Amino acid sequence: MTTSTATILDTSFKKEVFEGLSAFPKYLSSKYFYDKNGDKLFQDIMAMPEYYLTGCEFQILSTHTEIIGELFRDRENGLDLIELGAGDGKKTKVLLKYMAENNFNFVYKPIDISENAVEMLSNNLAKEMPALQVDAEVGEYFEVLERLKGFNKRKKVIMVLGSNIGNLKHPKAIEFLSKLKDAMLADDLLFMGFDQKKNPQQILNAYNDETGITAAFNKNVLTRINRELDGNFKVEKFNHWEVYDPETGTAKSFLVATEAMQVTIGELQLTVNFDQWETIHTEISQKYDDKIVAWLAKEAGLIIETSFTDSQQYYKNYVFRKK
Ligand code: AVJ
Repeated sequence: MTTSTATILDTSFKKEVFEGLSAFPKYLSSKYFYDKNGDKLFQDIMAMPEYYLTGCEFQILSTHTEIIGELFRDRENGLDLIELGAGDGKKTKVLLKYMAENNFNFVYKPIDISENAVEMLSNNLAKEMPALQVDAEVGEYFEVLERLKGFNKRKKVIMVLGSNIGNLKHPKAIEFLSKLKDAMLADDLLFMGFDQKKNPQQILNAYNDETGITAAFNKNVLTRINRELDGNFKVEKFNHWEVYDPETGTAKSFLVATEAMQVTIGELQLTVNFDQWETIHTEISQKYDDKIVAWLAKEAGLIIETSFTDSQQYYKNYVFRKK
């Protein structure tokens, strides 16, 4: 008996892998980097000296804790602090501690695409900040946007740290921001991190470490296809390749086949042919400046209220309100 394509493609992972590997040129979404192994690799990336983003944002949140915290200040009936892409929460904890110590009445709602990350964060917060009210959820950005509208009984602050928005091309970023705006009321805030344009070499290095952690992170999507979808990628036959275009501010990652090969993916009943040096595009990490962020905000119907940067101005957190 043959199984229909609709049945085969019963999850978005299957559907997107099928589409991306059947397309020309081939692509796979970076949102599938984050399983247990991918989370660990991303932790390692955040600890690399080349990956300056985490340290810069940590510095911003640590330096301006009080000003940022007071912008978030709850109203009579409290506050919902919603974080999309919370990850390990290391940076957020700086704010959570300030809020807990300064009599904020709030619920922290971390949301992440990685089930593993959400579980680890919940356990960690239960131990480190037992009095904190945490209501965690697993989901991807565009999925959870609709549900955000339900948080309309009291002030809410939506946070997206880590320059996570950088994985979206501008049109998608505008759609994302615009949907966040639709979920916001006049008193609500959006607090978002945007990695800034800087010396191109420095950006390239952040995504092209010699230790190969970023390469392993990208290749993890192939490992995941092998394990979860019965694929037979020879992962070692792919090279990670990074480019950064200083004009557009886009860092782009590829996996490049070092020889011609055929890959089968059992669960998709799919055979994929690679020519030698054929590519799979895996990720974009967009870099910004004030003009681009102002344009994105305008297109989305948001107003920039203020922003915070680090001592080297490598990174910026912007505070948005609904227009
Ligand atoms: C978590 C999406 C912000 O693009 O900088 C790090 C992911 N990829 N190194 C980024 C990533 C390669 C990261 N984001």
